Amino acid sequence: MDRPAKHHDRLEELRRHNAEAEIGGGTERRERQHKEGKLAARERIELLLDEGTFEELDKFVRHRCDDFGMEKQKPMGDGFITGYGRIDGRLVYVFAQDFTVFGGSLSETNAQKITKVMDLAMRAGAPIIGLNDSGGARIQEGVMSLAGYADIFLRNTLASGVVPQISAVMGPCAGGAVYSPAITDFIFMTRDTSYMFVTGPDVIRTVTHEEVTKNELGGAMTHNEKSGVAHFVAQDDADCLAMIRELVGYLPSNNLEDPPRRQSADPWDRKDAALNFVVPEDPMKPYDIKDVIHAIVDDGDFFEVHEHFAGNIVVGFARLDGRPVGIVANQPANLAGVLDINASVKGARFVRFCDAFNIPLITFEDVPGFLPGTQQEWGGIIKHGAKLLFAFAEATVPKITVITRKAYGGAYCVMSSKHIRTDMNFAWPSAEIAVMGPEGAVNIVYKREIEKAAESERDALRAEKVEEFRERFANPYVAAERGYIDAVIEPAETRAKLVTALRSLENKRDVNPRKKHGNIPL
Ligand code: HXC
Repeated sequence: MDRPAKHHDRLEELRRHNAEAEIGGGTERRERQHKEGKLAARERIELLLDEGTFEELDKFVRHRCDDFGMEKQKPMGDGFITGYGRIDGRLVYVFAQDFTVFGGSLSETNAQKITKVMDLAMRAGAPIIGLNDSGGARIQEGVMSLAGYADIFLRNTLASGVVPQISAVMGPCAGGAVYSPAITDFIFMTRDTSYMFVTGPDVIRTVTHEEVTKNELGGAMTHNEKSGVAHFVAQDDADCLAMIRELVGYLPSNNLEDPPRRQSADPWDRKDAALNFVVPEDPMKPYDIKDVIHAIVDDGDFFEVHEHFAGNIVVGFARLDGRPVGIVANQPANLAGVLDINASVKGARFVRFCDAFNIPLITFEDVPGFLPGTQQEWGGIIKHGAKLLFAFAEATVPKITVITRKAYGGAYCVMSSKHIRTDMNFAWPSAEIAVMGPEGAVNIVYKREIEKAAESERDALRAEKVEEFRERFANPYVAAERGYIDAVIEPAETRAKLVTALRSLENKRDVNPRKKHGNIPL
């Protein structure tokens, strides 16, 4: 009779512990969190994962700090919730900072909780997702907390290219703490409730005398539009967690797996006659490359990455024949699709992510060249443009390019040309592949001839030469004669051509020379 009672006590004790750990910082602080439009850490995890799949680890861990009155407050879990669960049935590891406990600040012990799940994620080959909402290093713990951050940064670095790492910033993320999300593959921010900066407005006022609000300095739109630090902006916590689930659906669990395929009801050989007319007759007129992407991919679903940054290049995930692909496309509707510093960096990072995780690359090209100007040259367009070139050249995943219109100058070489190991290069009949546009070319090649002509004849002569140049070079056939273009295709058939090419590349094997690592021009 004695034993069941004892068992009962022990179960009671466990339940009490669990309940205590789940309280976090208490109802009042949780309500404050809700009032600010934020969810509590546990609520976030529940929304992120498939229902009932979360397995918590280290729920009863307490901090070991006995200074500054901390010995009197040792909540279970210590303000971080860590563990694993499923997204669409697939394993992911997760940690969430609970702002209701010491402002979600990082202690020595909860840094150990995070590094534990990171190590497990690496061993199990599963993505790691961090939900950040924290006042940074736990001030009372001093260097132990800094050490904890550095332990996390190291693991972020080692995990890079091995398992996908996703960060959501759903509250404050300041000081050196920003460097963990920065090393991860994707950063989500919530529109009105998140901010990231290395030094806050007060320090800035003291040092540089600038007046700036937290939001202007490091809010979601600042980092999505201006700095490019963040890749996604979500309306609120729920939206953010739904977006993360969607992103995970395109990614393999680790670098040794292929991305997850889905059955697609969209016919693989679906033709779209409208594509035959999407490129305007006038080469100076823009069109929206996203219309082209939507028309070609499965069910028109395109999950855009970095939507608000460097709109002259478009990158994101889609599926073709059920298979995830990474899309990189010049955007003629923004700065004529020119490549500048931001576009190059944005494109390069995306290409490297796809290559690291076995996601085939589809490139749509309509690029008049690199953006001229002192700002670009002094800003280092040479090294930044080289990043995109380097990224495409080193990528060994299946690579397919479709030139829809302009492919001029160095940008022709950079945008996944045949010469940098692209497997399949297609061109639409509207393609123009040349060192530069006909007008620019004539102004250089026929400069003296035009100058020598009588003033009244100059315009006619220039027009004649431009036409001659256009006839000769502003088409895909010179490149096709050389085999630089594998096939000139009817735009309406692009989907079928891409799917067939992708199928042919399913078992592609290509390797880079053995080395410690390359030296991408950073
Ligand atoms: C310990 C902290 C804390 C911290 C907040 N709290 N930050 N406790 N260490 N870093 C506690 C507060 O004391 C408070 O406790 C609760 O969290 C909520 O904080 P509030 O200030 O009331 O919230 P709010 O007004 O929303 O302001 C949030 C905040 C502010 C802007 C984040 O708390 C703040 O400025 N915190 C300090 C930020 C900071 O300087 N951190 C160090 C950065 S350097 P009670 O008990 O009252 O609820 C850094 C380096 C990383 O992180 C190094 C990596 C290499």
